[in-house]
Amino acid sequence: MIHIKDNIFHLNTQNTSYIFAVTEHGDLQHLYYGDKISEQTDYNAFFEKRSMLLVSALYPENDIAYGIDAMQFEYSAFGGGDRRENACTINCGEALCTFTFVGYTLLSQPPARPDFAQAHSGDGCLCVLLRDEHTETELRLYYQHFEKCDVITRYAEIKANKNAVGVDSLMSMQLDLPMGKYKCITFDGAWARERFKHEQKLTAGKFVCDSQSGASGAWHNPFVMLAEKNADNFSGESYGFNLIYSGNHREVFEVSPYGGIRVLSGISPKGFRFNLLKNDTFFTPEAVLTYSKNGYNGVSHNMHDFVKRNILPKQWAFKQKPVLLNSWESVYFDITEEKLCELADRAAEIGAEMLVIDDGWFGKRNDDTSSLGDWQENREKFPGGIKSVTDYVHKKGLKLGIWVEPEMISRKSNLFELHPDWALGSENGRKILGRSQYILDLSRSEIQDFLIKTVCSVIKESGADYVKWDFNRMFSDFTSVETPIYEVQHSYICGLYRILSEITSKNPNVLFELCASGGARFDLGMLCFMPIGWVSDNTDVLSRALIQEGTSYGYPISVMCNHISAVPNHQTKRITTLEARSGVASFGVLGLQYDLTKLPKEELNYLKYCIAEYKRMRLFITDGCFYRLTDGFEENFTAWQLVSADKNTSYVILFQKLFFPVSQLPKLKLFGLSSDVAYTVDITGLKVSGEVLMKHGLLPLQNYQGNEQSINGHSLTDFSAVFYQLKALEEEK
Ligand code: GLA
Repeated sequence: MIHIKDNIFHLNTQNTSYIFAVTEHGDLQHLYYGDKISEQTDYNAFFEKRSMLLVSALYPENDIAYGIDAMQFEYSAFGGGDRRENACTINCGEALCTFTFVGYTLLSQPPARPDFAQAHSGDGCLCVLLRDEHTETELRLYYQHFEKCDVITRYAEIKANKNAVGVDSLMSMQLDLPMGKYKCITFDGAWARERFKHEQKLTAGKFVCDSQSGASGAWHNPFVMLAEKNADNFSGESYGFNLIYSGNHREVFEVSPYGGIRVLSGISPKGFRFNLLKNDTFFTPEAVLTYSKNGYNGVSHNMHDFVKRNILPKQWAFKQKPVLLNSWESVYFDITEEKLCELADRAAEIGAEMLVIDDGWFGKRNDDTSSLGDWQENREKFPGGIKSVTDYVHKKGLKLGIWVEPEMISRKSNLFELHPDWALGSENGRKILGRSQYILDLSRSEIQDFLIKTVCSVIKESGADYVKWDFNRMFSDFTSVETPIYEVQHSYICGLYRILSEITSKNPNVLFELCASGGARFDLGMLCFMPIGWVSDNTDVLSRALIQEGTSYGYPISVMCNHISAVPNHQTKRITTLEARSGVASFGVLGLQYDLTKLPKEELNYLKYCIAEYKRMRLFITDGCFYRLTDGFEENFTAWQLVSADKNTSYVILFQKLFFPVSQLPKLKLFGLSSDVAYTVDITGLKVSGEVLMKHGLLPLQNYQGNEQSINGHSLTDFSAVFYQLKALEEEK
C-alpha cells in the first residue's frame, strides 16, 4: 500500500513501513523505516525539530536551522552541502547537479529497463521526480513494495535534458537512519571460503565493502545487513540489503559525526563514468531492502521469500531439482565417453537423477590452459559425440548436464587466433592472464550474438537438460576496442544479461546453474536467470557449514547446490564421516562429485540410502522455512532447522566442530512448529509437543561411554553431524 498526503510518502508492507517527505527546500527527507505504522499516524512526530543552528554548519539561505549535512535524506548529491558519502555525483562540466522535488507518479508497472536483470513487478510503484534547476537534468527515484515479503525495492534514473552530463556515481539506494548503536553484518571471503559472516560494530567513520572484480565476487557479497547492537538470529531490529546486479558493487555504512547512520548500495563508482548526451538516460540496478524486528532469521525469511517469489525464473522457483553426479572431482580432465557411461551406471544404481559433464569435453582441453572459446566436442574423448552419452543416460532414465564457460577465451584457442581483439585488454599495454584465459568483451553486440548462437547450439547438439555456466577469472583490464573504458564494466554486465535472457528464454526447459570459481558470482542478478548456484568449490563439512550458513542469510537454501565428495577432502584434506557430508549437502540441492566406480559396495549402499532420504526431504526445500538455530561455531556447534510449509515435518541438523570427552551436546530450541501438535523425533524415538520443542527445546539424549559419544548408534567425532527428523503424529497415522 502506498499512501501519500501533503507530500508525505508512506509505503506499507505486511509488517513494515517506509516513510519520507518533501521539505520546504524541496529535498526528500527520510522519516522512518521499521515496524509497521498506521497511515493515520501523526507525521509531525517524525520531523526533526529545528529551532536553532543545528550541529551542522551548512544550510540554505535564510534557514540557519536546516543543517544539510546532519539531516536524514532519501538521496543526496555530491556538491549540495551534504558532506557524508553521497548517492550521486553528476557533473555537467561547469557545475555539479543538485536536485529538488518536482512531483510524483504512481505507476501500475515500473518502466522496462531492458539492460537489466530485474525483479518481477511488486504491488505498486512510486516514481518521484527531482530536477536540477540549472541544467534541467532529471533524477527519478523509483520505489516498489512487495507486501507479503516485507520488501521495498529502489532504483534511480538520470536523464540529461538540456546539457550533456557525466554520471560519476549513481547509487541504487541511500538509507539514513537516526542516531543509534548499530553493527553491520557482511559476507566475505575468497575462493573456497565464500560468504563467511562478519559483524562489525559501527562507531565512527565509514565501513565499505566493494567489488572491483567485474563480478559480485567472492571477496564481498552485495547482500549486507545493519542491525541494532544486541540483535541476533532471533531478536532485535535488523535490516537486509541486496542488489539485483552481478558486477562491481559498493556498500557503504557511514556513521555521521552527529550520530546518524547512512547506508548506500549500488554500482561501485570506481572506474565508472557514463557520459549522457541530451535526452540520454541511465538506470541503476534495483536495490532490495527489508526490515524485521525478529532478528537475522526474520530478515532472511523476508529475503528468501522475495527471492523465491520475485527473482527466480517462475517455471523453476518451486520445482524440485534433480540429484546429480558431476564429473569434476570424480575424474577432473580425464573424462571420456566410456568413463562417463560407467559413472552414469553407478549414479543410476544409487538413485541419482542426472549426470553432469564438467570441464574438459571440448577443443583440446586436457588441462586448464587452453580451448575456452572452441566449443566443439573432443572426438578423441567422445567418439560418438556428447549426444551419444546423452542418449545413453536418457535411456537409463537420467538427465544430462553440461559445463560451459562462455564468457572466456583461452590464450591458446582457435577463437583467439581468429579474433584476438575480442578479448578485453589493451593491444599495446599489459594484458593480464587469469587461469591462462582472457575475458571476452561482452559489451560488444557482435560478441553477444556469437555467444547466444554458440551456447544454443551446444545445448541443441548435446541434447543437454542442464547447463552449468562458469566464470573462472576476475577482471583486470577494462579496455575494449569499442566501448569507452569507464563504461566497459557495466556494459559488460548489460551484455551478459542480454545473452542470458535470450539463451534462457530460448531454452525454458533447460535448468541453468550459476558458478564462478565456486561461488564468486552468487547474486540476485544471476539468479534472475539461473534458479540454482554452485555455492563453493569447497565441499569439506566444516568449511561448508560456514559457507552455506553465511549464504543462507541472504539466499534461500533451495538455490544452493551442494555436493557430497571424497575424503580426504580435495580442498582441505580433512576426513569426515559420510553421514556429516551428506547431512550438510542435503540442506539445499543435493549432488555428488565423487568417482563412484571406485567406491566399496557399503559406501554405495549408504549413498543410496542418503539419496532416498534426501528425496523425501526435498519435498520441503523449495517452500519450507529455514532457521539458523545458532550462530557459526560460536560454542563448538552450529545447527539449522527446516520446517515444511504445513508445519508437519521438520529436519534439524547439529554440527559438532570438535569432540571433547564426556561433553554435552546443546539443547536446541526449535522454531516454526505447531504448538499444539505432538511430533516424533526419529533419532531419539521421543514424542514431544511442538510447544515443548519450541519453548524448552530438543534434547539430544546422547550416550557417553568413556571417550565415545553417540546418539542411537551414530557416533560423534570431530566435524560430525547429527540429523533429526520430526514428524507430526497426526501425519504418521
Ligand atoms: C571451477 C568450478 C568447478 C569446476 C572447474 C572446472 O573451478 O567452480 O566446479 O567446474 O571450474 O574447470
